[in-house]
Amino acid sequence: MNKVTLKFKSRMENESFARITACAFLSPLNPTIEEMMEIKTIVSEAVTNAILHGYDSNPNKLVKLEIGYDDNGCVTMIISDSGNGIEDIRQAMEPLYTSKAELERSGMGMTIMQTFSDSFDVISRLKEGTSVVVQKQLQKSK
Ligand SMILES: Nc1ncnc2c1ncn2[C@@H]1O[C@H](COP(=O)(O)OP(=O)(O)OP(=O)(O)O)[C@@H](O)[C@H]1O
Ligand SMILES: [Mg+2]
Repeated sequence: MNKVTLKFKSRMENESFARITACAFLSPLNPTIEEMMEIKTIVSEAVTNAILHGYDSNPNKLVKLEIGYDDNGCVTMIISDSGNGIEDIRQAMEPLYTSKAELERSGMGMTIMQTFSDSFDVISRLKEGTSVVVQKQLQKSK
């Protein structure tokens, strides 16, 4: 089991840092281009949600990304904020649901993350924050 934890300010430019770091960390597993793309998308959507929804775009909070993998190439990622939390997780996970329609969000982030994950869980408490827990099994490279 290998593992790393990143904590970074809730500034939008750090979204690409998190996405690229996740890929760099997973490179010893030789993920396929498609797996890389899916992992980048998951990190990108989760970090964007943390900043935009968790912290209402306040750039002075902290987002945490924990990422690890085991000997079988099973990747676990946890993206957390200690912001607003989600009142109704089921509603939040529905395709096309967004609480920020005025920002022209499409409400597809959660659905996309779920599609690209083997297991996808959202843990949230109002006014305490949100964690997105993702598991993804990578193909064995030969
Ligand atoms: N970290 C979070 N903290 C608080 N609320 C969240 C968080 N992540 C998601 N939500 C809530 O869940 C809703 C759905 O999230 P989702 O990512 O699917 O859509 P979106 O962010 O609104 O739009 P899109 O991701 O397509 O730009 C959000 O509109 C928000 O209300
Ligand atoms: Mg989103």
